[in-house]
Amino acid sequence: MTWRTLSEGGTFRVVVTKNLPGSRWLEILRQADCEVRVSTSRDVLSAADIKKEIGTRCDGVIGQLTERWDTELFSALKKAGGRVYANYAVGFDNVDVPAATAHQIAVGNTPGVLTETTAELAVSLTFAAARRIGESERYLRAGKFDGWLPDLFLGHRLHGATLGVIGAGRIGSAYARMLGSACHMNVLYYELFRNEPLEQYFEGLSRLLAKEGVRGPTCTRVETIEDVLRQANVVATHVPLFDATRHLINLERLRLMKPDAVLVNSSRGPVIDEKALVEHLKANPEFRVGLDVFENEPKLAPELTDLPNAVLVPHIGSATVWTREGMATLAAANIAAVLRDDPVAEELHVEDFLEGDCARLAPSIVNAKELVHG
Ligand code: DGY
Repeated sequence: MTWRTLSEGGTFRVVVTKNLPGSRWLEILRQADCEVRVSTSRDVLSAADIKKEIGTRCDGVIGQLTERWDTELFSALKKAGGRVYANYAVGFDNVDVPAATAHQIAVGNTPGVLTETTAELAVSLTFAAARRIGESERYLRAGKFDGWLPDLFLGHRLHGATLGVIGAGRIGSAYARMLGSACHMNVLYYELFRNEPLEQYFEGLSRLLAKEGVRGPTCTRVETIEDVLRQANVVATHVPLFDATRHLINLERLRLMKPDAVLVNSSRGPVIDEKALVEHLKANPEFRVGLDVFENEPKLAPELTDLPNAVLVPHIGSATVWTREGMATLAAANIAAVLRDDPVAEELHVEDFLEGDCARLAPSIVNAKELVHG
């Protein structure tokens, strides 16, 4: 594995396991007096590769969701004098947070800059699956398009249809708002608690539309996941991955869905039992799926790529320049703040980090409370 020094000398030494987009993140680390070592490899680094670079002196690491950060790496980081690990992602299911806390290492993540970008990708997958974009593009590229036909690639209209959202957090809510506003889809959401701002958004939208004599979309919280699955024309999963959400969508639940429904997942692959999904897609050719994430990334379940009713993209939910640069900025700000003993932001305002002088705060430390009380 090869590494480059991007910023030479400094009180602190920071290891970054992939080169990151933009330049602001590096500037933040330079200003915090950090020497920065970056891997030049595009391969997933092994724990051994990372430990080697951590060596005997390392104050912080910016790592990737493709790496498993557990006791092995946190104890190596601790021994090298490390105090902070910043995950270059909002999700942190690749991180054993209790292990980090046990080593008194702060764990950062990057919320707030992925919300709309990831929701937009989920919306794209929704349209692509409902309107059979992948299938029809492959058909055209294969030279099979011989002219317009009344029944060529008939899909489903989204306007006024029922949208099921499982997990109405930041991204799930943005996704619901986008499709509610653009296509007047009536939202049924499953979430542990009522999302009042989301419901109020739909009420406001409906009041506005009523002035034009148009009936606006509704937004209703339902009691069970089954309620969503049975009623919705489109279902999207927007939940973090943990034990309770692994295989949340299994064969039994897939069978509750309408035979011509659309299922979208841009959260984490293991939320859907991929083997069961393949079986369901094969048995129900009118059922369609849009996937950005996979159960055993980068591997896909056998036969998934052969199925015309699956639209598949390689985990690009957050892949816009603005978002990926923003994620790098927040990751660097987490490192700089912990190393300088700056406090953690009580409420995250991403513009405080992305514009002008970067706030002297850690944007998001997921185990901040445990570290204080530990
Ligand atoms: C995240 O940040 O968790 C995303 O999956 C990266 O795209």
